[in-house]
Amino acid sequence: MQLQPGRQVALLLLLLLAAVPRHVTEAAAAFSSGRLWWSSLESLSDYEAVRSHSVQNEPECIVPANSDSAVQLVAFNASSGQCAHFRCRLGLSHCRKCRNANKGAQRLWTAGSDCWTTVQHRVSGSVDFYRNWTQYQSEFGEGPDGNYWIGLNSLHALTASGPRKLRILMKAWNDSEHWAEYSSFSVGPESDNYRLSVSGFSGSAGIGDCLDNNNGMQFSTKDADHDTSTDNCATTHKGAWWFRSCHCAHPNGEYKDSSAAIGGAFAKGVIWRKTFGFYYSLKEIEMLLLSGLCALFRCRLGLSHCRKCRNANKGAQRVWTAGSDCWTTVQHRVSGSVDFYRNWTQYQSDQFSTMDADHDDSSSSCAENYSGGWWFQGCYSTHPNGVYKNFTDAIGGPFGHGIIWKYYYGFYYSLMEFEMLII
Ligand SMILES: *[C@@H]1O[C@H](CO)[C@@H](O)[C@H](O)[C@H]1NC(C)=O
Ligand SMILES: *[C@@H]1O[C@H](CO)[C@@H](O)[C@H](O)[C@H]1NC(C)=O
Ligand SMILES: *[C@@H]1O[C@H](CO)[C@@H](O)[C@H](O)[C@H]1NC(C)=O
Ligand SMILES: *[C@@H]1O[C@H](CO)[C@@H](O)[C@H](O)[C@H]1NC(C)=O
Ligand SMILES: *[C@@H]1O[C@H](CO)[C@@H](O)[C@H](O)[C@H]1NC(C)=O
Ligand SMILES: *[C@@H]1O[C@H](CO)[C@@H](O)[C@H](O)[C@H]1NC(C)=O
Repeated sequence: MQLQPGRQVALLLLLLLAAVPRHVTEAAAAFSSGRLWWSSLESLSDYEAVRSHSVQNEPECIVPANSDSAVQLVAFNASSGQCAHFRCRLGLSHCRKCRNANKGAQRLWTAGSDCWTTVQHRVSGSVDFYRNWTQYQSEFGEGPDGNYWIGLNSLHALTASGPRKLRILMKAWNDSEHWAEYSSFSVGPESDNYRLSVSGFSGSAGIGDCLDNNNGMQFSTKDADHDTSTDNCATTHKGAWWFRSCHCAHPNGEYKDSSAAIGGAFAKGVIWRKTFGFYYSLKEIEMLLLSGLCALFRCRLGLSHCRKCRNANKGAQRVWTAGSDCWTTVQHRVSGSVDFYRNWTQYQSDQFSTMDADHDDSSSSCAENYSGGWWFQGCYSTHPNGVYKNFTDAIGGPFGHGIIWKYYYGFYYSLMEFEMLII
């Protein structure tokens, strides 16, 4: 593994015992406190600069940022010596977007303090939001990154154990961004037509409280009129909401493209009246609930292990915000389905030994004798790329064969799982 000089690098080995009960050991965890993201793989559009200055080298750029909780990302330009520190523009909750932009990079995003769940999202006109009662009860749309509604039943379930914080992000057509936050948000059961309780408003400059008027109202759709207007607000305004008579905010209104967004029909569109008025349909709006799940659960092996939690929750649309560490899995064994006894071209690295390329200090070939590939000396005390053994064969097999971590398990114990990650 070639490592960039000056870059903070650490190796974490996770060894999982085969024995029952599944006891977990963190064998080596020598990682720094770095909770920064590195900008090379990052789109900077979701960030704003905290400071920018000249430095002599990379560590001079990173180290001070490490202890500064206002900084979530660093960028160092080696040719200019320029160091920049960034933070997420809308706070950490917005970092879901930063993360998503890097899906392809196989980086590990660990859980931070806040877990936000997207419950409503508009980004274009590709999904029709003028839907009926049964449709609004359930999820619809393109998933949390696109046009999306999580469903009234989920909103009730998410807030049934207690109110949650709601954050609403808005983007205008000049790309300016705004937010409103409510410290307390909950949605009642179906039997009460999903009545809204919302309070504790705060917002970015110029943003007014547009939900106070809806507080205490039941939800209405085109075929289920629970508003106080003589008309059906959902029909009049082509959407669905906790209408009173009718609305100040209407995130589920008709989506209008740039040509039709400004100066159209009264109160129709994706509306947040207090700031933008009734003739301005927003370019984007997103509602997120602070799910608080991170506070209830913690990963058994520390945050680095949250990659697994995250993966396990792919379907659950939870938002993982930036935490302390970003880990990349570089080696992983979980079963015998992949053969690790491979040749030089397949492993290819410097001073590494394989079945056909012996660079160890032993008189024989360690790779051949122990069926794997590793930085063998003569031969090893660790052998993650050894033959995978299932439960029946893992313990007490031939000397040194298997996935070995000698100092603890010995040479006759092949681990059930092994993973190497670098930060
Ligand atoms: C780094 O600095 C050099 C020299 O000033 C400049 O040409 C280059 O565009 C910079 N790279 C980035 C990614 O900003
Ligand atoms: C709601 O709309 C869906 C899709 O158009 C339709 O299948 C369903 O019958 C409608 N439900 C009611 C109660 O009208
Ligand atoms: C962008 O447009 C919005 C809505 O009209 C307005 O409130 C805001 O001041 C504008 N921002 C800039 C930077 O022009
Ligand atoms: C290494 O193994 C691959 C896959 O079996 C094979 O295609 C390749 O020819 C081998 N290389 C050498 C140098 O033996
Ligand atoms: C170990 O490897 C050498 C070749 O380097 C081979 O001659 C010897 O038979 C091997 N021993 C075992 C036990 O596989
Ligand atoms: C374990 O591996 C051995 C040898 O490969 C095989 O015969 C046996 O069926 C495997 N047992 C299980 C439970 O997979």
